[in-house]
Amino acid sequence: MAAEFATLVTGIVQSGSRLLGEHTVAFEHEFGAWLEPSSATLEAVAVSSGASALQLALVGVGVGPGDEVILPAFTAVPTAAAVCALGAVPVPVDVVEGTACLDPALVDAARTPRTRAVIVVHLYGLPATLPITDLPIVEDAAQAHGAICDHGRSAATAYSFYPTKNLGGIGDGGAVATTEPALAARIRRLRAHGMTEMYVHTEISQNFRMSEVEAAWLRLNLATLTADNARRHAIAQRYRNAAPHLAWQDSDPAHVYHLAVLRAPDRPAFRAALAEAGVATAVQYPLALTQQPAYEQFTVAPCPVAEAWASECVSVPCFPELSDAEVEFVAETLATVDG
Ligand SMILES: Cc1ncc(COP(=O)(O)O)c(C=O)c1O
Repeated sequence: MAAEFATLVTGIVQSGSRLLGEHTVAFEHEFGAWLEPSSATLEAVAVSSGASALQLALVGVGVGPGDEVILPAFTAVPTAAAVCALGAVPVPVDVVEGTACLDPALVDAARTPRTRAVIVVHLYGLPATLPITDLPIVEDAAQAHGAICDHGRSAATAYSFYPTKNLGGIGDGGAVATTEPALAARIRRLRAHGMTEMYVHTEISQNFRMSEVEAAWLRLNLATLTADNARRHAIAQRYRNAAPHLAWQDSDPAHVYHLAVLRAPDRPAFRAALAEAGVATAVQYPLALTQQPAYEQFTVAPCPVAEAWASECVSVPCFPELSDAEVEFVAETLATVDG
């Protein structure tokens, strides 16, 4: 893989084509086809990050300054930051106890005349239920490559290729997937300064381009994404089977387990027991949006379920590179600890 990548990088250097060249074009086709092979209309547009994918998708559905966007109170902060970057207002609503994802039943109550869109986050790789609404929906699938089988249900879906994601880049990267050709064309314009033809700018925008080096790396790694996701799923399933007494996030056959997460009411004790046994854990995320110093100002209603997830969630090791012996060790350790 390293040698193959080095050859591709040499080719990029020699060609002089560093941006929006053959690798970016090919990656867009290959990633779109991987996401939904049966779709004749799905297009992927490569951009500079997951955050910019979200931002451009929101612009594409008409979100602008002063508009409100409903989103889950428990998510990675960039979901809300993308809204704020447009001068719009994130409106956090609570999440479902079992899934940690947006509660679709709360969307109508959070809606005001200024609401322009809803963001649904497929947190940790679990496909979330979309609300039934006439508002445009933008899906945040930064953690969920492969979890969505029908991209036509929403206006656009944002993916991140941050290096630790299921499809991780060599640096930053992202993509917007949409089945609406006009939206895809607009996002292609918006990612390059709103330029329609050489030095003619029909919309105000900035630079959200992906580099050719990133696209070349992603093309190589796309080849193993199906197997990597299957491995993540099998690892998480092994843990769940070994430790059914723990309060795992809800399962789903399409869950791609960017993270394997459970809730431990006494998190410090739980993490200490695992650390003592030699199992590393992490907390994604320690605060709900309603508790984040920079975002608590946007709280409009209490979000107790989101805040409970924030105080109890624990991520356990789940990535394709784990050996079978390591997986067994983690599974057996989880079987012995109290939730
Ligand atoms: C749920 C979610 N949304 C958005 C993002 C932003 O992606 P990026 O870091 O590529 O900008 C991330 C990644 O951290 C994420 O996990």
